[in-house]
Amino acid sequence: MEIVRLNNNLECPVVGIGTYMLSPTDAENSVREALKMGYRLIDTANAYVNERAVGRGIKASGVERGEVFLSTKLWPSEYENPDAVDQTLERLGVDYVDLLFIHQPAGNWLAGYRQLEKAYREGKARSIGISNFEGKYIAELETKWEIVPQFMQVEAHPYYTQKDLRVTLDQYGIKLMSWYPLGHGDNSLINEPIFAELGKKYGKTPAQVILRWHTQMGFVVIPGSRNVHHIQDNLDILDFSLTDEDMARIAKLDKNVRYYHRTDAQLNQFAAWRPGFEKE
Ligand SMILES: NC(=O)c1ccc[n+]([C@@H]2O[C@H](COP(=O)([O-])OP(=O)(O)OC[C@H]3O[C@@H](n4cnc5c(N)ncnc54)[C@H](OP(=O)(O)O)[C@@H]3O)[C@@H](O)[C@H]2O)c1
Repeated sequence: MEIVRLNNNLECPVVGIGTYMLSPTDAENSVREALKMGYRLIDTANAYVNERAVGRGIKASGVERGEVFLSTKLWPSEYENPDAVDQTLERLGVDYVDLLFIHQPAGNWLAGYRQLEKAYREGKARSIGISNFEGKYIAELETKWEIVPQFMQVEAHPYYTQKDLRVTLDQYGIKLMSWYPLGHGDNSLINEPIFAELGKKYGKTPAQVILRWHTQMGFVVIPGSRNVHHIQDNLDILDFSLTDEDMARIAKLDKNVRYYHRTDAQLNQFAAWRPGFEKE
């Protein structure tokens, strides 16, 4: 497995599996099968309401806990809950996570970030991250963090490459983890002719070419899937390399247009919503 080295020297696999919008049953199955295939990075969140299922999937896979890089996210409703980290660990069935994010710059997000820093100091999170903190949010946090985060998780794909944000991230050695890496099921990205052409050249599918582009951009990528064939394909991207010329051609697709447009009103809704956590 290829890895990236984080700014605290921790190693993280470059490709993993995301579990957004997966029901507990699908999340458990996808995580178990992915780990059996060789995946070692799993991404979930309080808000996905599948953390218990992810924990069951890890156990059922037979893969040692120490070999798995497990990432989750605190939801804004939990930022002022002093037990949020312990409750998250309890749901996952683990005594630490490898990466803990705050999911949105909503509500009292600085209290949430302080919880991450505390969890990091206590060894409950081996690395910490911010998610959806582009622009003014990272600019404010930069003046307040006591521990520089290891990751920023944001929307990124060939149509939206986060050019401006990457300038700040590079300054601190913060790694970008891409969400919606394949366009979240929108076919226009996958159907761009260049991916079929390069796929033919390397014996890969268009999706595999896109995922390889992410890793060659230096991004960690966590495609979501409930389809075992896709899950298998999404890991099978490390035995070829796109050339500089291929990368330059893909760069021309950058329209600086994102799929998901978040508004301030949505941030207020996020702050007011509490996930209906799984009981068991
Ligand atoms: N921090 C945040 O706010 C945030 C927001 C969104 C997502 N995320 C994270 O990022 C992860 C990835 O995002 P996502 O799952 O929304 O979007 P995505 O990975 O871009 O797209 C998932 C879609 O692509 C399809 N797909 C997966 N592999 C494929 C392949 N090899 N060929 C063709 N189609 C394929 C899946 O369908 P099948 O099931 O049929 O394979 C699914 O419909 C999430 O699971 C989550 O962990 C984070």
